[in-house]
Amino acid sequence: MYFGSVLFIGVLASTLPHVFGYTIGKPAKIRTLITTDMESDDLASLVRYVLYSNDLENQGLIYTSSKYHWEGDGKGTEFFSPNREYNTSQTSWRPTGTTTIENHLLKAYKEIGNVEFEGEMAKDTDGSNLIKKLLLDQDDRILYLQAWGGTNTIARALKSIEEHGLQDETYTEYIAPNWPSIRVEELSAAYATWGFNCNNSGQGNVRGLPNNNKYYQRTWIKENIQIGPLGSLYRSWLDGQTTFGGGDQLDVFGDPAKAPSGWCKPMMKYDFLSEGDNAVFNRLLTTGLQGPSNPTLGSWGGRAQKNSISPDLWVLVPKEKTANGSDVENWTTDRWVAAAQNDFAARMQWTLTPNYSGGNHAPSVKVVNGATVKAHAGSTVELVAEVSDPDGDQITTSWWQYPEEGTYPGVVNIVDQGNTRAVVKIPDDAKIGQNVSIIVQATDDGGFPLTHYDRIFLLVV
Ligand SMILES: *[C@@H]1O[C@H](CO)[C@@H](O)[C@H](O)[C@H]1NC(C)=O
Ligand SMILES: *[C@@H]1O[C@H](CO)[C@@H](O)[C@H](O)[C@H]1NC(C)=O
Ligand SMILES: *[C@@H]1O[C@H](CO)[C@@H](O)[C@H](O)[C@H]1NC(C)=O
Ligand SMILES: *[C@@H]1O[C@H](CO)[C@@H](O)[C@H](O)[C@H]1NC(C)=O
Ligand SMILES: *[C@@H]1O[C@H](CO)[C@@H](O)[C@H](O)[C@H]1NC(C)=O
Ligand SMILES: *[C@@H]1O[C@H](CO)[C@@H](O)[C@H](O)[C@H]1NC(C)=O
Repeated sequence: MYFGSVLFIGVLASTLPHVFGYTIGKPAKIRTLITTDMESDDLASLVRYVLYSNDLENQGLIYTSSKYHWEGDGKGTEFFSPNREYNTSQTSWRPTGTTTIENHLLKAYKEIGNVEFEGEMAKDTDGSNLIKKLLLDQDDRILYLQAWGGTNTIARALKSIEEHGLQDETYTEYIAPNWPSIRVEELSAAYATWGFNCNNSGQGNVRGLPNNNKYYQRTWIKENIQIGPLGSLYRSWLDGQTTFGGGDQLDVFGDPAKAPSGWCKPMMKYDFLSEGDNAVFNRLLTTGLQGPSNPTLGSWGGRAQKNSISPDLWVLVPKEKTANGSDVENWTTDRWVAAAQNDFAARMQWTLTPNYSGGNHAPSVKVVNGATVKAHAGSTVELVAEVSDPDGDQITTSWWQYPEEGTYPGVVNIVDQGNTRAVVKIPDDAKIGQNVSIIVQATDDGGFPLTHYDRIFLLVV
């Protein structure tokens, strides 16, 4: 999509007892569905998303309209027909044979939503009916509705529930008590990290901070992402591709002749172009940081703050502190770029190997002290993590304070003791009731270094 808001809607069907997944046994997968306008950046995000479809329970892929794209443009143009086939025969990544990107992603549902024109929500569609059905089913997990395009199909589903609910009482008897709030997260600030990378002021490809700019450069994208049966569907600057066989006239990004006349000025061939919509699902990915039911926690999708109470609207925080204590804009999403891109690249390698052992997989890390430890001001707390790696790789761990996640306003001293141990000194001036968030991260030494995390809160008592 372009310019318009990326909306991420969590319908709170129930309160999860364990935000951080410290449950015994296998935690339930996060339940979600996508509504998308399937522009070029959505397609690129979909390529990434497919590689995470083992970790999430995707319950639908629904075409919806957006500010620019709906069913045709009155000039005989038809959108909504990506159907990009790719050959998975040589991959360890399900399923085998030839498939379309959508069918790979989806076990069951692909529907057309409200696409007649921008903002159309006049009638029920297959897409809105699917959303409605999922909202009304008996699954007590939160349903995360991802809006990669406009929100009209989602709005239609809610309207339909409301209208019919008034007739059959499901609204008053079931929905209202069970879904006291619909939380909306407006995540377009993450475009600074993942949206269109335009050379509009002639500044060149300076996306990201100097340390992670390489992940937006043509060499890295072309060698690590636009490879193999799935990766070749990814989009980069001037790569010769276009959506819908040229049916989307705004998608000139792949065409060296037309691109300079587009609204987003081109970078070098194969430079990072745009995703935009991974900004929406990054916070759902199971990195160990994720806690999508609590937007105040950081994750690869950034950390959010409440913008208004009614509606329950959240936006990303504009800046966060780096390790050296300076405030940096967009750091809440920029800080994870290297980890997220290496993870993407490692998963892309899964599409090039016929077996599991041919790929690299992320390590696991878990703080054995639990999710929260109580401590007095002035005391020290010893933290211990357990780490393992499915490929037997060497793992490096590090511990750091995520200052904005906690309420203690200062810096705490963390002494890494090695052997996945650390000692944290609770400052003398910490007040009862304040808390400190400590992250432990584990990185393997596979071809692409993969990082997973765990979090512990120290509560001052
Ligand atoms: C898929 O790839 C395999 C292995 O390279 C090849 O034998 C097969 O013909 C390909 N199928 C299609 C439909 O291209
Ligand atoms: C942060 O993002 C905003 C909006 O895209 C942009 O104007 C600003 O320059 C960015 N700041 C940095 C330091 O990247
Ligand atoms: C960006 O635009 C400037 C001015 O037109 C041009 O000199 C430069 O090569 C462009 N940078 C990239 C990375 O394409
Ligand atoms: C702190 O780190 C940021 C981001 O890495 C960097 O841009 C800035 O120059 C650093 N500031 C100091 C004082 O070292
Ligand atoms: C797995 O695939 C790799 C190629 O990616 C190959 O070298 C290796 O022998 C295969 N292992 C098994 C057990 O098939
Ligand atoms: C940290 O403290 C704040 C403010 O009291 C509270 O909202 C938050 O839930 C606490 N976090 C944890 C994990 O206890």
